[in-house]
Amino acid sequence: MRSRIIGTGSYLPERVITNFDLEKMVDTSDEWIRERTGIRERRVASEEEVASDLAHEASVKALQMAGLSPKDIDLIIVATVSGDMPLPSTACILQHKLDATKAAAFDINAACSGFIYALAVADAFIKSGIYRNILVVGTEVLSRFTDWQDRTTCVLLGDGAGAVVLTPSNNEYGVLSIKIFADGSMWDLLHIPAGGSKMPASEETVKNRLHFIKMRGNETFKVAVRTLEKLVIETLKENGVKSSELALLIPHQANMRIISATAKRLGLSLDRVMLNLDKYGNTSAASIPIALDEAARQGKIKEGDYILLEAFGGGLTWGAALIRW
Ligand code: UT7
Repeated sequence: MRSRIIGTGSYLPERVITNFDLEKMVDTSDEWIRERTGIRERRVASEEEVASDLAHEASVKALQMAGLSPKDIDLIIVATVSGDMPLPSTACILQHKLDATKAAAFDINAACSGFIYALAVADAFIKSGIYRNILVVGTEVLSRFTDWQDRTTCVLLGDGAGAVVLTPSNNEYGVLSIKIFADGSMWDLLHIPAGGSKMPASEETVKNRLHFIKMRGNETFKVAVRTLEKLVIETLKENGVKSSELALLIPHQANMRIISATAKRLGLSLDRVMLNLDKYGNTSAASIPIALDEAARQGKIKEGDYILLEAFGGGLTWGAALIRW
């Protein structure tokens, strides 16, 4: 038994912040941001929008494509690091907004690898026969956790959501393999220091800007390149698939230089890599399902195609999924 994606959807907030807008806010330049990251602009949620709203919009589209109603869904998994609130899960709020009354619901925090982690859990539930129809969502409102005075992070991040519907496959197509990994020894490369049991919110934590995302970018970059190059090669090898057979690589959209290094290691030209980083920046757990939805709707993937998803992020966490569409 395999699981198969039968619907995809995505939602990006309307408001655009360009590199030129950021030039007015911090000491940076459009040229620096484009050359070092590949990002030109990013989306930012309106004041009224929260992570479950973005997730809801993406989920409705994914369910429409799948031809299912919310009542058909057995389980909702939301990958996010910027959920509506610490308690309850954003998945429960989404379940209510969708009126998906039959569905169990929980969140996964695996930072930028969150969607791959959530997909792995959904795949296991389907393979085991426990659930039939699972909604997997990556949603982020990172703008609320972004220090708009910190040029090393604010130029990178964006808001958005992507969703997929998984169901048992009735043929050889579907998710062929998913592997997820973690190394907690490097947790402090990418983190939000305050707001948890370690450092609860206080006047001091607010004053010291400790509720915002902190990243040691260059160190993270180096581990990401090394790890992803090894990961994609091993994933294809283990499944007996040659990179020449891959129709599309759908990477987590963190940095164009990381994506290019991974593609180069696979011998793939960039026309076989899904890219939207220039428009949306790094949307963490949302980036892969948004890119997958755009690839599907733009006709970049067709039935029977091999596609490879890969991500790397805070935790540290990383993972890849090989799919026959
Ligand atoms: O989503 C999953 C995890 N995240 C990632 O995988 C992201 C990984 N990291 C990166 O993408 C890159 O490391 C960055 C884009 C964040 C930074 O690029 P870099 O080539 O690693 O630059 P750097 O951090 O080594 O900084 C180079 C210089 C520094 O100045 P000095 O020390 O050389 O004088 C920075 O202060 O660039 C400076 N800098 C900036 N300059 C203009 C840092 N941010 C900016 C900025 N504008 N926004």
